[in-house]
Amino acid sequence: MREEHLDWVSACEVELHTFPWTSGNFLDSMAAGHGSWVMSAGTDKLGYAVMLRVLDEAHVLTISIAREAQGRGHGRAFLAWLHDEARKQGATQCFLEVRPSNTAALALYQDMAYEQIGRRRGYYPGLNGREDAIVMRREL
Ligand SMILES: CC(C)(COP(=O)(O)OP(=O)(O)OC[C@H]1O[C@@H](n2cnc3c(N)ncnc32)[C@H](O)[C@@H]1OP(=O)(O)O)[C@@H](O)C(=O)NCCC(=O)NCCS
Repeated sequence: MREEHLDWVSACEVELHTFPWTSGNFLDSMAAGHGSWVMSAGTDKLGYAVMLRVLDEAHVLTISIAREAQGRGHGRAFLAWLHDEARKQGATQCFLEVRPSNTAALALYQDMAYEQIGRRRGYYPGLNGREDAIVMRREL
């Protein structure tokens, strides 16, 4: 991910998330040295993700596939690619958090061997009060 991608990334965020990350959030992540990628096919941008690695742990901070590119296996492929990248960097386990209401993401993560290891009560802002975060982990 580069600065020139941020208009597109931000537009996707607003379309896909009720509480989107801002361009500033992505800039901060890049400045902090987190792995930040745009997935593309030729000139078509398909999705983006940010991943943090600390020692043997990788944390997927955000992953999204553009609305028009969803449902074609790109999310699964992107997450598998992130796992490979994390392994190359020395990670042996990967963590992420997801809203219980996000059934598509939950299904993807469960299908890719993530297991629930915890629940953070009221972690996310929600339209009707706050929403829990399901914390998930898998071996790499
Ligand atoms: C979650 C997301 C990344 C999945 O990407 P995708 O490219 O659409 O997913 P894929 O086509 O690779 O599907 C992989 C699996 O995800 C699950 N899945 C995807 N879309 C689904 C849906 N609408 N309903 C239920 N399960 C779904 C299925 O298990 C699917 O496997 P299958 O095709 O064998 O049934 C995508 O929907 C997205 O970007 N959503 C908005 C942003 C978001 O919520 N990000 C995650 C934040 S934690």
